Amino acid sequence: MLRSFLADVLNPIVWNLPGNAAKKFYSFSCTEYSSVHDLLLAARKTQSDSRAAKYLGHLEDEYKHTSIFLNRANKIRKDKGQSPLPHPGSEYEQLFELLGEKRFLAFVHLGEKRGCIQFSSYAKYFDKKGDSYTASIFKAVLEDEVQHMNYTYELLEEMCGSKAEAHKELARANRWEMRRRWMRSGRAITSKLFFLITISIYPLFMPYKLLYLCVPAKVQKSGWNKS
Ligand SMILES: [Fe+2]
Ligand SMILES: [Fe+2]
Repeated sequence: MLRSFLADVLNPIVWNLPGNAAKKFYSFSCTEYSSVHDLLLAARKTQSDSRAAKYLGHLEDEYKHTSIFLNRANKIRKDKGQSPLPHPGSEYEQLFELLGEKRFLAFVHLGEKRGCIQFSSYAKYFDKKGDSYTASIFKAVLEDEVQHMNYTYELLEEMCGSKAEAHKELARANRWEMRRRWMRSGRAITSKLFFLITISIYPLFMPYKLLYLCVPAKVQKSGWNKS
């Protein structure tokens, strides 16, 4: 699979860039914590008690993952004499309300599937590297993610009434996510572009500023139109 192949190829770069390992663990922690909030909302809003119980069980796992990844990020920083990062904030997108329960389940299922591919690649990479501690972190989280991936698909199929409908819902969730990513990367590029334009404008206006400074103070005060 392409995602797994890419993860395997990129691991040596991604994990060895200076400062990137702690950053990566912290970003995992933030993602896990935003899932906690989405699952809490799902448990509160669903019409089914049994699904609410499943969302709450899932939430507990994601909360555990939040701490595991945060601790790992801060351990790396501590070893380098850096200060610890704060607990992730409570930003989340209220996906359950935004997507409705079926698409929410499809979206979560796809995310868990991606997580499984990534984490198994990371576990393999750290095992090979002889870092069994970090590998064991990914293996422990992976065990939960596999279970999340499976139960979300089961619930999705149950709610859709057939495999074919469930697959259609997965395709819709996939398209929605691609659009969201596209919009996000567009926003990120726009803000970088704005920054570049802003800093490149200053040198352009420098000659005018110098010219203005050469004008006698009296003329500056009275304006250009008066003699
Ligand atoms: Fe997780
Ligand atoms: Fe998960």
